[in-house]
Amino acid sequence: MGQELFLSGRERFFPEDEIIVSKTDRKGKITYANDVFLTVSGYTEAELLGQPHSIIRHPSMPRCVFKLLWDTIERGDEIFAYVNNRAKNGDNYWVFAHVTPWLDAAGQIAGYHSFRRLPRREAIAAVEPIYRQLLEIESRHADRKDGMRASTNHLLELLGKQGATYDRFILAI
Ligand SMILES: Cc1cc2nc3c(=O)[nH]c(=O)nc-3n(C[C@H](O)[C@H](O)[C@H](O)COP(=O)(O)O)c2cc1C
Repeated sequence: MGQELFLSGRERFFPEDEIIVSKTDRKGKITYANDVFLTVSGYTEAELLGQPHSIIRHPSMPRCVFKLLWDTIERGDEIFAYVNNRAKNGDNYWVFAHVTPWLDAAGQIAGYHSFRRLPRREAIAAVEPIYRQLLEIESRHADRKDGMRASTNHLLELLGKQGATYDRFILAI
């Protein structure tokens, strides 16, 4: 556990023309990871397959972003999001993710795909202070659900002020 939370303070990058790909089942357990994913995250395929995707969760990420992600994909929609991830050795790496459901022959959600590119630095500069604020709101609440409700409200308020949906807001950054 302690080792899992170790943060090196170093950031990793990957080439602009590469895409980090993973596929999960309906619960978010990893069923596929491409080579770029393995290289950037520092995990082997054997270490990743069957694990929950939160294996690369970075503690700087507010929970409400993942709640929004799950609410969106579980109703069959796609979502774009900036995500800070944690590599196995404690480095962090930012991605711009496009997460989509994939359907079985009967048209039911069978699982999810995520395709991630290297984000622009200006986008990270815009997103970081917002995530910091959301995380701070979450940390004020002893109860995780209360914290998430408060941070989600704050995020929706921010979007409301800009008259944007989450996707429009994200894509305009
Ligand atoms: C296809 C797919 C890709 C995901 N990719 C990431 C990711 O790169 N990093 C991450 O922290 N969470 C990712 N998640 C979200 C995790 O499932 C999880 O919700 C998140 O890490 C927060 O952990 P928690 O739900 O245990 O709080 C992904 C989920 C799906 C369905």
